[in-house]
Amino acid sequence: MSVVKINAITVPKERQERFEERFRGRAGAVESTPGFEWFELLRPQEGTDQYLVYTRWENEAAYEAWQSGQDFGRAHSGGGDTLAPAAANSAHLWSYEVIESAGPKVAQDRQN
Ligand code: HEM
Repeated sequence: MSVVKINAITVPKERQERFEERFRGRAGAVESTPGFEWFELLRPQEGTDQYLVYTRWENEAAYEAWQSGQDFGRAHSGGGDTLAPAAANSAHLWSYEVIESAGPKVAQDRQN
């Protein structure tokens, strides 16, 4: 059963540009991690200033292995003040199990 791990990070308006810039330059290592299924960075539109880093994994163990491994460390190591986490102490990890999911029907189905 897939699991979803969402890191919810509050980023004040004046730091959002820098935060997004950091993600544009992200390590890109997560894509090659065993058990990794999906990543999305979600920008808040209204009613919240929390960005969501959505990740989906084949199982809990796959996430744990990535999170405790070198790639996670490297992706978050920063590099002095300017590269320090854009919003320290404002992140929360939410864990979910995927119990149902759907995507668009494939073209063949639509002919029916
Ligand atoms: C204090 C906690 C955290 C903060 C402030 C934070 C912030 C960031 C930032 C700014 C980046 C862009 C790369 C960089 O400049 O470092 C990044 C990368 C990333 N973060 Fe976090 N993060 C935190 C924890 C987590 C957690 C718990 C997850 C689990 C869902 C996560 C998922 C990711 C992923 C998937 C990437 C991209 C890695 C890659 O490209 O290989 N982060 N994070």
